[in-house]
Amino acid sequence: MEAARVRFLGRKAELVLLLRTISELPVEERPEVGRVGNLVRKALEGALETRRGELEDQELAQGLSTDQIDVSLPGRRSPVGHLHLVAQTQREIEDIFIGMGYEVVTGPEVETEYYNFEALNTPADHPARSLHDTFFVREGVVLRTQTSPVQVRSMEKQRPPVYVIAPGKTYRRDSDATHTPMFHQVEGLVVDEGITLAHLKGTLETFARAMFGADRKVRLRPHFFPFTEPSVEVDVSCMVCDGAGCRLCKRSGWLEILGAGMVDPNVFGFVDYDPEIYTGFAFGVGIERVAMLKHGVNDLRLFFENDLRFLRQF
Ligand code: DAH
Repeated sequence: MEAARVRFLGRKAELVLLLRTISELPVEERPEVGRVGNLVRKALEGALETRRGELEDQELAQGLSTDQIDVSLPGRRSPVGHLHLVAQTQREIEDIFIGMGYEVVTGPEVETEYYNFEALNTPADHPARSLHDTFFVREGVVLRTQTSPVQVRSMEKQRPPVYVIAPGKTYRRDSDATHTPMFHQVEGLVVDEGITLAHLKGTLETFARAMFGADRKVRLRPHFFPFTEPSVEVDVSCMVCDGAGCRLCKRSGWLEILGAGMVDPNVFGFVDYDPEIYTGFAFGVGIERVAMLKHGVNDLRLFFENDLRFLRQF
């Protein structure tokens, strides 16, 4: 097409040369030659323009039929991570207690024996200390074996009323399918005037129902902890068999979820709270334990092996 344009409309085309030399023609011929010449030039230009449009349309049609893009194909997703099951469960527990007006507080993982044991009514010669398989950092300093020391630190910082939970890492020299050297707990502490065991039970029932389902029941069994009196272990009715008895609850219908009790007056002594005015309750719940029951995880070590095939399921 370009060759045809040069041939018929280029600078050396016959028509163009003719029109350029029109002044050399006899005067009476000039108007007619100019008129016809311009008509021919317009016709040629029009033909070229028409042909250019046809070629462009052809090219577009061909491109559309060979370079097809299927805009309905799904895109490639960027891999997006999510919170670890322990973190998710911790936040769920926090949200439940925040909903009941509690404040979330934290304390150090490297802790003194004073806060981890002494001020929790567990003196050096107390038999409960040996149960804890403590990691020692140096004389008098340990990796906390429980989140309970945050109770003492919270009470030192404020006067009652106290409504706090303290989530975090805890450490014990222990390792099998139900024990790992590092695990997580959430501690709870309430101190106010007129707090009773009924408040503890109601609170834990509210927690158990929010966490494990509206039909859950809670029962308290007598137990011992150095820092509470009386102390209880708390069971929730089995969410698999609804209390009828199954493999998960070992035919009992109940699953142990946490330890709790009424704050021992001796603990108040360490923080200068008057036990004649104030009473309180405390509880400690294992985060992995809650996650295992809720999601049917049967080996605690799975939480810390970082196998994505496990972690991605939650
Ligand atoms: N600290 C206990 C443990 O690690 C759990 C516990 C029991 C916490 C009773 C409490 C409590 O606050 O009142 O086994």
